[in-house]
Amino acid sequence: MNYLVVGSGLFGATFAYEAAKRGNHVKVIEKRDHIAGNIYTKEIDGIQVHQYGAHIFHTSNKEIWDYVNQFAEFNRYTNSPIANYKGEIYNMPFNMNTFNKLWGVITPEEAQAKINEQKQVLGDKKPENLEEQAISLIGTDIYQKLVKGYTEKQWGQKTTDLPAFIIRRLPVRLTYDNNYFNDTYQGIPIGGYTQIVEKMLASDLIEVETGVDFFDYKQEYIDQYDKVIFTGMIDQFFDYKLGELSYRSLRFETEELNVDNYQGNAVVNYTDAETPYTRIIEHKHFEFGKGDKNKTIVTREYPASWHRGDEPYYPVNNERNNHLYKEYRDLALQEPKVIFGGRSGQYRYYDMHQVIRAALQVVTDELIEQK
Ligand code: FDA
Repeated sequence: MNYLVVGSGLFGATFAYEAAKRGNHVKVIEKRDHIAGNIYTKEIDGIQVHQYGAHIFHTSNKEIWDYVNQFAEFNRYTNSPIANYKGEIYNMPFNMNTFNKLWGVITPEEAQAKINEQKQVLGDKKPENLEEQAISLIGTDIYQKLVKGYTEKQWGQKTTDLPAFIIRRLPVRLTYDNNYFNDTYQGIPIGGYTQIVEKMLASDLIEVETGVDFFDYKQEYIDQYDKVIFTGMIDQFFDYKLGELSYRSLRFETEELNVDNYQGNAVVNYTDAETPYTRIIEHKHFEFGKGDKNKTIVTREYPASWHRGDEPYYPVNNERNNHLYKEYRDLALQEPKVIFGGRSGQYRYYDMHQVIRAALQVVTDELIEQK
């Protein structure tokens, strides 16, 4: 078979790798000037710079962990971001270190009692917006210092105007454990993420072309190939004919500084409302300080509203959009030659391990079971 893969991110690359392994010809087109989608990393001053935001691989699925380890060796990086609220530093996710710093409590029982006491402000009221939902989960202090400003910046809306369901849970841990993820496996590929996609695409049966937009030749492509794996935006594929899905975008501001260590941690969240960015990433800490000792690279991440032409970093999975997505998915089912995949093609908040799993599912459906 001859496949066209639109988008060289993790979904497209996983499919291309598996298809070529089974003797199929694959053409990968990518509209950016580089491969690897949002997991793209680039070496600057010996530091792997995560060009599209901090990427930490984590999973509890051994099969996926073994799968990705074929393409890179992973270090033992453990995600433990910190929050900076007007100069006060707190550990994340909310855990005994956070509670001790906030309230001086020492035992889990004392922390739980404090949270319970603070939740009382709501009485028996059923949470009707995000503010009330957050307070019902973690009380007023954590909400005010660590949730409110950050969430309002991320969504560009007041927490009192945001629906409660956005935060069904807030991870609260009554142990002195700063590890953000509960997963069995996590780490960062030594030497960056781009090599993973490079290795996936390194087959004689795969041809890669960057700087090409599928929409410039949409019908020709569909006619020319047996099947198309499309990992761009599903609403754009259908020319937004049912309306636009909503996305949130981001703006990254990257700076090289002449110091070895700027903030002492890979990820620092700014949780007040006044600081315009949500976080600063210091890339060399993902690899324990590897790189030039007189330099460091930091990236400030600014949330942004999305307009046509912007990068659709986050799907906004509210009721309206999920409903609209289902309508687009129904249209997609009427396109026998096109398979929609990945974060934008399936309009899902997929992490990397989930993207690999979803791509391997398509491989099973398309390349194994149809044989
Ligand atoms: P991805 O967007 O990577 O690739 C799609 C590709 O298609 C892009 O390269 C795009 O340019 C191309 N394309 C789109 N339209 C096209 C067209 N018309 N023609 C040609 N090419 C086209 N996950 C995780 O596990 N841990 C983490 O820490 C993070 N952190 C994180 C931070 C930020 C800021 C974001 C935005 C995301 C994360 N993620 C994450 C999620 C992770 O980035 C995501 O799961 C994968 O990159 C998704 O891979 P895809 O292939 O689906 O999309």
